[in-house]
Amino acid sequence: MKVLSVNSGHNSSIAYCDNGEIKIAIETERLNKIKYSEEPFEALRTMLNQTNHIDCLGLAGMSKNQLPHLHETYIRSLRKGAFESFLTYDSGLMHHKMHASTAFYNSGFDKALIIVSDGMGSEFYFNTKEDVVYYGREHTSTYIMSYPANIKCVNKKVSFPYKNNFNPLCDNHINISNHISEGEAFSVFSVHCGFGVLDAGKIMGLSSYGKPDDNIPPIYVDGKINNELFVIKNNSLHTIEINVNKYPYLKTTDFQILANFAYALQTKTQEHICNYIASMVSKQGISKVCLTGGYFLNCVTNAYIRKNLPDIELYVEPISSDSGTSIGTSKFIHHTKTKDMTIRPQTSIYYGLIYDYTLEQIKSKLDIQEKIIKTTAKEVANIISNNNIVLLYQGRSENGPRALGNRSLLYNPIDPNGKDKVNMIKQREKFRPFAGTVLQEKAKDWFEMLDMKESPFMMYALNVKKDKIKLIPAITHVDNTCRIQTVTSEQNKHFYNLISEFKKITGVPILFNTSLNLAGDPMAETIDDVLKILRNTKIEYLYLPEFNSLITK
Ligand SMILES: [Fe+2]
Repeated sequence: MKVLSVNSGHNSSIAYCDNGEIKIAIETERLNKIKYSEEPFEALRTMLNQTNHIDCLGLAGMSKNQLPHLHETYIRSLRKGAFESFLTYDSGLMHHKMHASTAFYNSGFDKALIIVSDGMGSEFYFNTKEDVVYYGREHTSTYIMSYPANIKCVNKKVSFPYKNNFNPLCDNHINISNHISEGEAFSVFSVHCGFGVLDAGKIMGLSSYGKPDDNIPPIYVDGKINNELFVIKNNSLHTIEINVNKYPYLKTTDFQILANFAYALQTKTQEHICNYIASMVSKQGISKVCLTGGYFLNCVTNAYIRKNLPDIELYVEPISSDSGTSIGTSKFIHHTKTKDMTIRPQTSIYYGLIYDYTLEQIKSKLDIQEKIIKTTAKEVANIISNNNIVLLYQGRSENGPRALGNRSLLYNPIDPNGKDKVNMIKQREKFRPFAGTVLQEKAKDWFEMLDMKESPFMMYALNVKKDKIKLIPAITHVDNTCRIQTVTSEQNKHFYNLISEFKKITGVPILFNTSLNLAGDPMAETIDDVLKILRNTKIEYLYLPEFNSLITK
């Protein structure tokens, strides 16, 4: 069965699934170059060139009201395409349920408890006793899932922006309150700091510079977000602010005070979420746990949970952002309609479009001042060890927000000025840390791996071993952690070879690895995108390992 699914809303995406396997999945922003794009048509059109038949169209949405309109629009758009008509489409596949499906079908578990946490999920409508309808938004949902497509919600927290005395009627597993979600608190504070609403990751990075500060008000009161600190204005979940009238200490641009707040938010929230997971595991008696939803892109929290709940079998979904929900939608439809019981753990997330460039095509794109020369992994490793940035471009793009060696910007982790240098080139804030990719068999010598053999999708910030901190200053954060990717030759042959060569030269089996984009831009997808970065920065090298070639300028 061939299923094509679309996720609208921010981080819109599409995923094409054939017989239960994801063949192509991509975020719209990579194609239309609009960060967090909400408009999936560009991706849909491009995708249609690579798929010639679909049996079912799935739509993952946030709002019931939007879906009928979207159906019509999508159907009209699809029928214009040069491919056979689809047989049916599924709608009403609510947001958290689709996050849960993505994680469950990718986890390899036969049955699991799934915790979904994000800023806001689908809208929820409630009748009050006075028969007036109000709506809230799901923000933390817990499901039990098993094959082929059994899903049961056992707990759902809903933000309800009205006063509690509205007393809406609802099922008993739904907990409503006029408190915002944990993820939303990060978003609100991100905006308070002058960053974007979807820049919660920056707050995580900032938190490492913070320290305990008695002037920071409590983040949680009675187990819920302090709603005198995070105030909902005008009964709308879209107007939430830090209450600087009540807490004037927070009306500041002082870096240390903001970092102290971020520290309190990060530490209290990870503790809060970890306790919630422990309570759900104990209540449901299931120890296989999947975590997903935007909040679980927080690799500091993920490491904290793994450390503090060592008895659970944990899977953290790498495509936890909303872009992953199109994958969950496709797989959910496949398993529902075919009753397929096959378990397919996720082993790779190089799901991007297939370009199959030839060397001649690439050469034809070069400007007069750019040249292409034959090279080897050894030569490129040498260039990096001499403190040069190298762009790495090969194969299909990574799904999700992390660069995993097919679209990566690489640097020397040994250079003490590396962080400042690359932050400046990428036009990022000075305080933000960088990730590293390590040969899997060497990971335990350099990082405290908790109970893990590998971390192939960069979902954990782990402590750098004490005797190694000074050796990799460019990727060691201020709290001595590093977000790492482990890599094997099977997972990514060319990347593995390059790091192996770097190790022969320097003794360090690690490369500084960050996404191939400039601040605020989507990740590079095509060779044209990456050539543009080469031209618009001082970066001098672009490595194409599939062609043993290096482009220089
Ligand atoms: Fe979400």
